[in-house]
Amino acid sequence: MLKINNIHASVEDKEILKGINLEVKAGEVHAIMGPNGAGKSTLSSVITGNEAFEVTQGEIMLDGEDLSELSPEERAHKGVFLSFQYPVEIPGVSVTNFMKTAINESRKAQGLEEMPASEMLKKIKEKAELLDIDRKFLSRSLNEGFSGGEKKRNEIFQMAMLEPKLAILDETDSGLDIDALRIVANGVNKLKSKDNAVVLITHYQRLLEYIVPDFVHVLYDGKIVKTGGKELALELEEKGYDWIKNSVK
Ligand SMILES: Nc1ncnc2c1ncn2[C@@H]1O[C@H](COP(=O)(O)OP(=O)(O)OP(=O)(O)O)[C@@H](O)[C@H]1O
Ligand SMILES: [Mg+2]
Repeated sequence: MLKINNIHASVEDKEILKGINLEVKAGEVHAIMGPNGAGKSTLSSVITGNEAFEVTQGEIMLDGEDLSELSPEERAHKGVFLSFQYPVEIPGVSVTNFMKTAINESRKAQGLEEMPASEMLKKIKEKAELLDIDRKFLSRSLNEGFSGGEKKRNEIFQMAMLEPKLAILDETDSGLDIDALRIVANGVNKLKSKDNAVVLITHYQRLLEYIVPDFVHVLYDGKIVKTGGKELALELEEKGYDWIKNSVK
């Protein structure tokens, strides 16, 4: 599904990603771990096409198609979803209305008609129930005054509604408590299928007890320096990143 070949990316002439290779197949969950500043969020920005970063080398393929010339919107319409480490607030736009607009824009890009209101409502109801989200929440202004956990819940709701092919969840530093961890985990587990894939960026070994990854990658100084199964996350927790540093040098 996703194939990243030797990606190098810079911001303001500073190289941040220094040759990343990653292959994610349908049905898989990949976790990316690594110290602060390693380039994890940069990698997700580059996959989704954030123009703040300049890709200087390499390619990103989604189902055999090179994404490099596509805008973030076009990538989203191809089924790439990114949750933000720091989501924006949109006062006056409710969670539901934001979602309706997002879905209809995506349909438009695919040459489809707007989703009929009744179908939309049914879908909202179904996904809200699946994720245990109450009605009041759906009518609140997007992210305005949301707690960290509520932001996460909203993100997972967006993901459930959009049903992306590839979801990239950047959980770093968002101060998830145990409940928020469970929200993210339950949501991801319920939405996982053999046709989609998830890339989960996290500092929490604990999250990976709930969402069991097929692969764990360690990103360190702009490179994936180690790949393993879920036990790698445990090993990291036990030994810390110094262990990686020493094994890299
Ligand atoms: N817009 C930017 N301008 C300048 N430097 C940037 C920008 N975005 C990222 N960087 C730098 O790139 C490096 C990697 O940042 P990135 O956010 O990808 O790290 P991260 O692995 O996600 O870290 P964390 O675990 O803290 O979220 C950092 O040194 C950061 O300061
Ligand atoms: Mg980050």
